[in-house]
Amino acid sequence: MALLKILTYPNPILRQQATPVTTFDDELKALVADMAETMYDAPGVGLAANQVGVLKQIVVIDITGSDAKEKDLIVLINPRITNGEGEETDEEGCLSVVEYTAKVKRFTKIQVEAQDIDGKPLNFTAEDFYARVIQHEVDHLNGHLFIDWISSLKRALYKKKRKKQLEAELKKKTPVV
Ligand code: NI
Repeated sequence: MALLKILTYPNPILRQQATPVTTFDDELKALVADMAETMYDAPGVGLAANQVGVLKQIVVIDITGSDAKEKDLIVLINPRITNGEGEETDEEGCLSVVEYTAKVKRFTKIQVEAQDIDGKPLNFTAEDFYARVIQHEVDHLNGHLFIDWISSLKRALYKKKRKKQLEAELKKKTPVV
């Protein structure tokens, strides 16, 4: 097991479409284990493969929270949202969108088709926070970030803030001669 590096905005890999998984082997299991470890370490409630630089349709989710006694890891391979109903606007953040949250409108109830880690088909209904997390992670697989769904003014402000953060990081790294 190993911790993976989480890519952050504006890394272009986050904007690419992930491709379906067709081989359910030990390599996939090892990647999923590393993704889960990375998500718990962050800590986050979900992580998509794009975020660790792998353009495959894989997400890991655990909505029990970092202080939960028992972990409840959900692995979705090739997930698709086949139906959505209801809507709710709530605060969202992302491990790839550093130090920023915003209100995002999502379905409150979704129908999901996916496969498990062995390739077995899954078909289930998700509601409320779980539904929100799945929608957020499926967005990642399609190259979307939650900031795509906020107003252009808010997005412009975030871009400016992120640019400043990156400039400050760069300054820190520059050796003084
Ligand atoms: Ni995210």
